[in-house]
Amino acid sequence: MKKPVHLTVLLLLLAAIATACRSNAVPETTEEPVSDIKTVNVGFSQLGAESDWRSAHTDSILTALSKENGFNLTYKNGQQKQANQVTALRMFIQQDVDYIVLAPETETGWDFVLKEAKDADIPVIIVDRRVDVEDQSLYSCWVGSDFELEGKKMCAWINEYSKINNIAPEDLHIVHIQGTLGSTAQIGRTRGLNNAVQEYGWDLLAQENGEFTETRGKEVMASFLNQFDNINVVYCENDNEAIGAIEAIEATGRKVGSDIKNGEIMVVSFDGINEEAMQYLQEGKISCIGECNPLHGPRVLDLINTLEEGKEPEKYNYVPETLFSSVPEIKSVTVDGETYSVTIK
Ligand code: AHR
Repeated sequence: MKKPVHLTVLLLLLAAIATACRSNAVPETTEEPVSDIKTVNVGFSQLGAESDWRSAHTDSILTALSKENGFNLTYKNGQQKQANQVTALRMFIQQDVDYIVLAPETETGWDFVLKEAKDADIPVIIVDRRVDVEDQSLYSCWVGSDFELEGKKMCAWINEYSKINNIAPEDLHIVHIQGTLGSTAQIGRTRGLNNAVQEYGWDLLAQENGEFTETRGKEVMASFLNQFDNINVVYCENDNEAIGAIEAIEATGRKVGSDIKNGEIMVVSFDGINEEAMQYLQEGKISCIGECNPLHGPRVLDLINTLEEGKEPEKYNYVPETLFSSVPEIKSVTVDGETYSVTIK
């Protein structure tokens, strides 16, 4: 049986109204979650993978800027070459990412590429080491360690050690295995030592680049041991170098430890993230480690969130750090009037 025409028209009209109401309702309910999960595009240029510290640092950033946290991250490993990092930055600029995170190998040589990022309106967050640029507005902010303070704290610890053991300053015969020359970590830790040598009158026998690696640490230490027979302190600028240096010392039959009055060679270093080094610390093979905190990821996340809210973050953001030691007598050190406790392991 046919429906009367006016009833069919009425039904069609009601159906059209219902569809219109539904199509209005759909975006209203889905709009909010969509804006909540906005994806932020980030390009991260890491300088390389020279140490355990570096691996922990990379992991921390990759974990914080994860897909689950709303990020689309492009990660590039610079393989210890600044040229690779510059290429990566140019690629990020071309991709028009929302932010660039840069862990620079050395301090200089960044002005041009950072200017390109600024011209493209891409905020740059520097992590770990610093960049030495004329125009500080080329980057938004920085997060990392106070490397010179790390060096000063270590030297205050060595000074305390020599005092409580009645060792005259000139009887500390030190060799110094440096990190990558021109990196902020090397510059700060080296400055800390050089100033202490001047201040206390220690005998600094030699300084050489160990590139923050175990292999170079071992090579450099072997060559120091060939040149000098009175070494009693080895100042390594990271734990990987210290592990290499210990191998070189033990290969000659000498003992590592803090009993330098009885012929041991005392090793000190920086980082505190490498399990083998922490084990050596507990065994007394490394006497003191200046912590270098690699957990920058959550801080970078906070800085990006601040920028996303349209706010200006703090320009320089320092991570907290301690000193680790297996020598129980030294419980704290004082640097520039400030006292820092030592974590005894
Ligand atoms: O810049 C931080 C330093 O770089 C760490 O001490 C070292 O292990 C790393 O390679």
